[in-house]
Amino acid sequence: MKFDSLKVEGVRNLSIPSPLKFSPRINLICGPNGSGKTSIIESLYVLSLAKSFRSRSLQSVIQKDQDSMLLHALLTDNQRLGFMYTNEGERKIRFQGETIRSSADIAQMLPVQLLDHRMFEILEDGPAARRQLLDWGVFHVEPQFLPEWRAYSHALKQRNALLRKPPVNLKSLVLWERPLLQHAVNVQDMRARYVERLKPIFNETLGVFVPSIAKNIHLELASGWRKNESYQRVIEDQRDVDLKQGYTHSGPHRADIKITLQGAPAEQVLSRGQQKMLVSALKLAQAVLYKNTHGRPSIFLLDDLPAELDLEHRTALCRWLESLECQAFITSIDASAVQSLWHVDTEVAVFHVEHGQLTQGGSSP
Ligand SMILES: Nc1ncnc2c1ncn2[C@@H]1O[C@H](COP(=O)(O)OP(=O)(O)OP(=O)(O)O)[C@@H](O)[C@H]1O
Ligand SMILES: [Mg+2]
Repeated sequence: MKFDSLKVEGVRNLSIPSPLKFSPRINLICGPNGSGKTSIIESLYVLSLAKSFRSRSLQSVIQKDQDSMLLHALLTDNQRLGFMYTNEGERKIRFQGETIRSSADIAQMLPVQLLDHRMFEILEDGPAARRQLLDWGVFHVEPQFLPEWRAYSHALKQRNALLRKPPVNLKSLVLWERPLLQHAVNVQDMRARYVERLKPIFNETLGVFVPSIAKNIHLELASGWRKNESYQRVIEDQRDVDLKQGYTHSGPHRADIKITLQGAPAEQVLSRGQQKMLVSALKLAQAVLYKNTHGRPSIFLLDDLPAELDLEHRTALCRWLESLECQAFITSIDASAVQSLWHVDTEVAVFHVEHGQLTQGGSSP
């Protein structure tokens, strides 16, 4: 599914009171610093995932002096999606006039992939951001991933609650370890399957972005527990330590994607620019795998693209987006840095943002 139009009330400095129509392919959003470019990307992200990538709480996304935010989008085939969030923390998601309880239902329909300055730094960050990137793909490719992940998280929460409250009843602890073990193994199997499918595609995309290192890069899933040991064994062995410290040390909640270059962690060897290229290749590989699985493209949100990638790599990224037929929303301070990158047949819409007001500023061809 794609975004056909967007209406925004009460989000940061934005004011888009009547629906603004998008291109099903490339949308360039240009304007000076502080004009509202990232807020538009953020609005689309909130609509698809019911959370922001900038702030932990949605309260800070609500316009100052407003009580709530309201987002409306028309999607492919005129399907209506609405999202409301208030300062009191009340949330409402509506799709085709019906209330939706689980935001995952919408996330499944709107496969949004974000590339912003934080995403480009995920090799240097802790494992949480890389795990999130990995799980985006597993969620979209393995239908059982979400229920298994939820069941695992529930068992983990119960076990941790028991560990935190001594004296611990060993019987109850073992009772929660049974579902913990079962769901942990299922989550790990799905992640491992996904990574195996991703690897050859990643090598191919990397060959375009950083050919000089593509052959030597190695991508590996770290399960979150000691290598070559069963999770059951690890849980039993670590029970005493877990009891002492009051939480579960090992498991899929500690999983990671390790990227190495001839055995050395990629972030210690690659330049900042090369790391960005590698992350771009990883995201594109995920988009290719998504399309191979579902037969339709994902949606890219690219914030401040020219600030992140040089002209050569920007152009390479655009060629991939075109060949995958992705819908993309690309922000830039300077329109000329993103306008000339496209094939003459690609439907490009250009928007200008000024003080939170968005106007269509010409399109091609
Ligand atoms: N809750 C809020 N209410 C009102 N305005 C806000 C709120 N949060 C942020 N802003 C303002 O919204 C404006 C738009 O911010 P945004 O990050 O979208 O700009 P931008 O065009 O992406 O800028 P840059 O090019 O610097 O990245 C900024 O002036 C910011 O101060
Ligand atoms: Mg910005």
